[in-house]
Amino acid sequence: MDDTKELEDEISAAIEAAADEAALEAVRVAALGKKGKVSLLMRGLGKMSPEERKTAGPALNALKTRLGELIAARKEELAAKALEARLEAERVDITLPARPRPQGAIHPVSQVMDEVAVIFGDMGFVVAEGPDIEDDFHNFTALNFPPGHPARDEHDTFFLRGQKDGAPMVLRTHTSPVQIRTMTAAVEKARKGGAPLEPIRIIAPGRTYRCDSDQTHTPMFHQVEGLVIDRETHMGHLKGCLADFAATYFERPVKTRFRPHHFPFTEPSAEMDIGYSRKGNEIIIGEGNAWMEILGCGMVHPNVLKAVGIDPDEYQGFAFGMGIDRLAMLKYGIPDLRDFFAADARWLKHYGFSPLLQPNLATGLSG
Ligand code: PHE
Repeated sequence: MDDTKELEDEISAAIEAAADEAALEAVRVAALGKKGKVSLLMRGLGKMSPEERKTAGPALNALKTRLGELIAARKEELAAKALEARLEAERVDITLPARPRPQGAIHPVSQVMDEVAVIFGDMGFVVAEGPDIEDDFHNFTALNFPPGHPARDEHDTFFLRGQKDGAPMVLRTHTSPVQIRTMTAAVEKARKGGAPLEPIRIIAPGRTYRCDSDQTHTPMFHQVEGLVIDRETHMGHLKGCLADFAATYFERPVKTRFRPHHFPFTEPSAEMDIGYSRKGNEIIIGEGNAWMEILGCGMVHPNVLKAVGIDPDEYQGFAFGMGIDRLAMLKYGIPDLRDFFAADARWLKHYGFSPLLQPNLATGLSG
């Protein structure tokens, strides 16, 4: 029994002295493991007389339990200490500034497309799209450019080798073909559902192409088209909608003026000018005695409606188209259009927008 007491003192001291969990585990194996000292003593029970076993058995069992508890308690202590040490060693200095990470910028064209979508989205327009490579029918004929009509020449069209219905395919010269595609799809849907045509209210931003290049023209540029079709839309809606757009887009009061113009696919047609003044080299949009044109518009021509199977006696609507790049140049004071497509990282950094700021009407279009 004295031996047992001595052994318990010895092992308890070793448990206490174990400096880490590995050392403690070694102590446990040496005491309670298969060949551990306590285990060996227990194995000795078999050789004892029943009398001896009666006292030695429970004593050894109790020893085993006590040591087990001591080890568990010490283990917890050591684990807590180890965690403490780790937390201390791995402590983060939260006063350090965050490491800079490379961050891209939103291109002004993307920014303005988003701004325009937000403004018209708020008025109930949805975004529609069409292909960059168009056929003659969608880009011209359905838009009331008769074959051989001189208005086709004004578009400086890029013709492609591929043909459809005997006419060369083209890079679309404007976003107006999306009008045709949208109306055709709506007519088709109405016909299939046996329902009347649903009103249409879309904008179609996208790339357009004309063979032209100088400070304000590039062979590829961007437009946004607008189209509204229903039973009672008139020129007043067009004017209100576009005047509202101008003020919201430029984020200030903007004088507008509608001037008669001609497009084959609208009748009447107009161009909208906005007022501006010059101060030194700066252009101040909104007020002043000078006017600049920013978009073309008009009531959708009956021939266009007929081309897509809409009855012009029942439905009318308006359409407009404007240059996105130009809108960006005006609002953000960018002097040369060609830089838009030069992929110069310094230019992008200077004129780009934070990807973390989404244009919206509540907190602002341009951050
Ligand atoms: N498609 C015309 C252009 O590119 C713009 C426009 C669109 C005019 C819709 C009127 C209506 O110049």
